[in-house]
Amino acid sequence: FGPENLRLVLLHEVQQTAQASLLSWLDHPSIEVKEAISSMIFSITARRLISYDSSRSDGKLWKQFDAFLQGLLAFPLYVPGTAFYKCMQGRKNVMKILQEMLNERKKETHRESVDFIDLLINDMKEKNTIMNEKIALDLLFLLLFAGFETTSSGITAALKFLADDPKALQELIEEHNNIRKRRIDPDSEITWEEYKSMKFTSHVIHEALRLANIAPLMFRKAIEEVHIKGYTLPKGSKIMVNPSSIHLDPTVYKDPTVFNPWRWKLVAPQRSSWPLEAGYDYVLVPTLLSYKWPSSCIA
Ligand code: HEM
Repeated sequence: FGPENLRLVLLHEVQQTAQASLLSWLDHPSIEVKEAISSMIFSITARRLISYDSSRSDGKLWKQFDAFLQGLLAFPLYVPGTAFYKCMQGRKNVMKILQEMLNERKKETHRESVDFIDLLINDMKEKNTIMNEKIALDLLFLLLFAGFETTSSGITAALKFLADDPKALQELIEEHNNIRKRRIDPDSEITWEEYKSMKFTSHVIHEALRLANIAPLMFRKAIEEVHIKGYTLPKGSKIMVNPSSIHLDPTVYKDPTVFNPWRWKLVAPQRSSWPLEAGYDYVLVPTLLSYKWPSSCIA
């Protein structure tokens, strides 16, 4: 998932999968956008992380994840029929599938490519490692979850904002059409240079993520006393960072509730912490008196 991998592998895979998904949507009179996008993104992340081929398994693993998500914020009543019960069953079933995959993989003697399961198995074989099967399965679960739910919510939000804003949609289409016009074969695969040239597309992504606030909270613990703008956080403080307090602050963003991708034209380029973007640090640079919080999102 690093920038190099994005350039060499992911860009191609995302294009292939997106094209195949869009084509398959044509067979349906209507689609439920969030569900369809989640399934599409899951097939990309699951293939990358655990070499899982969603098309061969009829979305079995994704459906269990979806069940888990449906009840994630439900009242914790563990009784059959409740959303919470379905959520816990979903997690149990995902863990069962992941355990089976891990067991199978341990038996394999030779593999061409290396994925995240291989790395975890190697880690477990190390001397003095803290890695064990339970931690490995939890990590697999976390990575699959963190990778697909965020991205699919972001794309769904962007589609909704664009559907409500014909001017932004038009400018986005023009940017893409201009790239196609410059090609010898308009249907050839997207290149890295083309991807990097999509300035307006990146403004749309920034703006959708700002407005949608996909990750509502982040947590930190002060491992030493911290001083920020005249405030002192004592060692051991537990900190809840709320990105929307900055994203929707009118003193930071003019008319903060308005979808306005053009506002990002004025932002000076910074180091990027997210690869699907062309050069700004926009992944929820949060809060607490404008302190710049380093994000630990691996993407
Ligand atoms: C729109 C897309 C995404 C958004 C908005 C997003 C947002 C976030 C946020 C806010 C955090 C917490 C960061 C922190 O506490 O500093 C996080 C953590 C994380 N994200 Fe993402 N993320 C996205 C995509 C992804 C993808 C594609 C992956 C992996 C395939 C991923 C994997 C992770 C992991 C593993 C963590 C936990 C890191 C840790 O605790 O050390 N995320 N993400």
